[in-house]
Amino acid sequence: MTLWASLVVNNIGRLVTMDGSGAQGLGEIEDAVVIIDAGRIAWLGKKSELPTDTRGVPHVDAKGGLVMPGLIDCHTHVVFAGDRADEFARRARGESYAQIMAAGGGIRSTMTKVRASSPEALAAATTPRLDRMLARGVTTVEAKSGYGLSVASELSMLEAIKLLDAAHPISLVPTLLAAHAVPPEHEGNPRAWCEQITSDLLPEVARRQLASACDVFIEQGAFSVEDARPMLERAKDLGLHVRVHAEQLSRQGGAQLAAELGALSAGHLEFVTEDDARALAKAGVVCEVLSIAQVFLRGQRPIPGRMLADAGCTLAVATDVNPGTAMSTDLLLSAGLAVTQSGLTAEEALKGITLHAAKALGFTDRGVIAPGLRADLAIYDATHAAELVYRWGDVSARTVIVNGRVAHTR
Ligand code: NIG
Ligand code: FE
Repeated sequence: MTLWASLVVNNIGRLVTMDGSGAQGLGEIEDAVVIIDAGRIAWLGKKSELPTDTRGVPHVDAKGGLVMPGLIDCHTHVVFAGDRADEFARRARGESYAQIMAAGGGIRSTMTKVRASSPEALAAATTPRLDRMLARGVTTVEAKSGYGLSVASELSMLEAIKLLDAAHPISLVPTLLAAHAVPPEHEGNPRAWCEQITSDLLPEVARRQLASACDVFIEQGAFSVEDARPMLERAKDLGLHVRVHAEQLSRQGGAQLAAELGALSAGHLEFVTEDDARALAKAGVVCEVLSIAQVFLRGQRPIPGRMLADAGCTLAVATDVNPGTAMSTDLLLSAGLAVTQSGLTAEEALKGITLHAAKALGFTDRGVIAPGLRADLAIYDATHAAELVYRWGDVSARTVIVNGRVAHTR
């Protein structure tokens, strides 16, 4: 048998395919080789079963390490300007996230900095964060707008994401989150801003293909289910997916709305009930466990990951990286925290940053290592997959391959 090959990853101690086979479903193969051609996986398997002569083909030596599908961070606010260290310190002195938001801080304080930034400046501010993500083995990142909060500035944020997708090895997936906070121009009238998003922003975003999904923050002081429903329905009519920030600080009905609209994902979920969990499971909404945000905000109750999984929900794990509630780009830390805070098994946490994160983004071409899928691979100096969620803040990839090319090496 002759196989075309552009790159061969050999000397893999443990290949973690995530294809659902094996006792824990991680699809592990020891002493493996992966053959890549034209950006896709051409073959994978045991070295002893190699179907073709790979001499003369460029090689990456995994040096006996662990190979994972490129990791996927399916919920982030990674595009922003400035930081909010001052608010972190204020919260440490006793103020709450909701109090700071009500006093005009929080999301709105980042808005001021973002409105003053060009798409190029936003992309430049974001690039070092993406570099750190790539260095840990992350190859796909969802990125939300939501700090512009005007038609022009939300479009600027989406343009920044487009620039980053073109310039950075990481594959970026843009989401319109214009309904993230009520802009000062619509103070006290969240409905009016949702109506403007629906009439002015969504058609433009769809026409220019600047986002693949529309998201909303359903919370007291942000948007209600009634504010959000017509906007999300319009987004669906325009061919966009729906996502929801639901039940983070209180139970407002965002999870049930996500289920009703067949959202791709619902994130946070600290305050979901068993009834909500059953609705999410039945509708196939992927539940995003955002553990860094949960522990970053003092006094937050744990996200009930175990309850959600036992109700039949598919769980993804993401960083939610943002300057207010999750100032960390470390997806593997989030996965580790999902284990200890929310009762996920190590294997569930690992599926949450690969297979199930791909599902949260509507992808069927990544998150798993299988013939024909994108050749996005992360190579680690590790023996067992569980090490990735166990060595907190301490894991980086030795080599990262994106679309069949070496994109990072340490
Ligand atoms: O996902 N919950 C709302 N949005 C973000 C926080 C954004 C911010 O504070 O800047 C979140 O946690
Ligand atoms: Fe978020």
